[in-house]
Amino acid sequence: MAVLVTGGTGYIGSHTVVDLLNNGYDVVIVDNYVNSKPEVLNRIFKITDKKPRFYEISVQDEEKMSEVFEKENITDVIHFAGLKSVAESVAKPQLYFDNNVGSSKVLLKLMNKYGVKNLVFSSSATVYGVPDHVPLKETDKVGGCTNPYGQTKLDIEYLLKDYAKEHKDANIAILRYFNPIGAHSSGLIGEDPQGIPNNLMPYITQVAVGKRDHLNVYGNDYKTVDGTGVRDYIHVVDLARGHLCALKKLEQKPGLVIYNLGTGKGTSVLELVHAFEKANNIKINYVICERRPGDVDENYADCHKAYEEMGFKTKLDIVDACRDSWHWQKNNPNGYGD
Ligand code: UFG
Repeated sequence: MAVLVTGGTGYIGSHTVVDLLNNGYDVVIVDNYVNSKPEVLNRIFKITDKKPRFYEISVQDEEKMSEVFEKENITDVIHFAGLKSVAESVAKPQLYFDNNVGSSKVLLKLMNKYGVKNLVFSSSATVYGVPDHVPLKETDKVGGCTNPYGQTKLDIEYLLKDYAKEHKDANIAILRYFNPIGAHSSGLIGEDPQGIPNNLMPYITQVAVGKRDHLNVYGNDYKTVDGTGVRDYIHVVDLARGHLCALKKLEQKPGLVIYNLGTGKGTSVLELVHAFEKANNIKINYVICERRPGDVDENYADCHKAYEEMGFKTKLDIVDACRDSWHWQKNNPNGYGD
């Protein structure tokens, strides 16, 4: 009885593995370290005093993945593995399609072959494209993705829907994440972007730690409270817990279900910057610059469905996330190192 976690050493994956281990699950990780480091496993051990079994494999490698299914008694899969850089996906759309959609196909094939019924999939609010209203409900229209990365998430959702139609005993939870930030309260695991961070919070923490001179705020003429983009920032520890709620939900054999995982509350770029400054007593220098192509005014979740159907509700807020992100960055100025 083990949970297979693909991409289990990544940012969201590692926090979820910690929560699984702390809740008595037997965990098997598959990761090819494309966007993570072996050190993560030591950190997971430090926090939980437990060692998940680990295979350094790409999910696209059907033969090696097959050996894992052969050897381990897998009952559930949480599928995080995938490439996730919006900018890189614009430059290399085929790579993103092959990797993200291809690995999901391999996984479904093997789940079918080995009789594994339960899957939690790491999707994204990006599938809603350019929203014409907020908050976003799971029943709102999807599509019109603004980049190839987002399109791969939507393609995989369709793949899973087709699979569920054909395999009536499959139970699949598609989780649409909004914007994960924060880190484990131990400061031992957190977000470790390669190169210049694309996302707001790691950029802020790198300015705070002195690695970057200032934050570029991408536009202050959006139709929002202060003109800067509004997003739904969810603490990664809450987000991780959402996966355990989803596993429990799958025990009820619901077929295919879709849940937004967010807080239901929008926060602007400048509100987040000021919350960070206040929580940590650090000044963040910023410069207002041009809009970033593809960005939308506002994006936040309607979270009622996740609460009503699986009892999931966030417990942490952006102040907690600002404190925890900084704790992680301060203790690990170079992330997990080389
Ligand atoms: N922003 C800045 N400066 C930066 C980085 C970001 O001003 O250096 C702004 C953006 O313009 C936006 C907000 O901060 O208004 C959030 O930007 P992020 O890049 O942190 O997050 P996005 O909402 O653009 O994208 C995130 C994930 C995607 C996912 C999407 C789902 O990175 O993978 O949420 O909605 F698809």
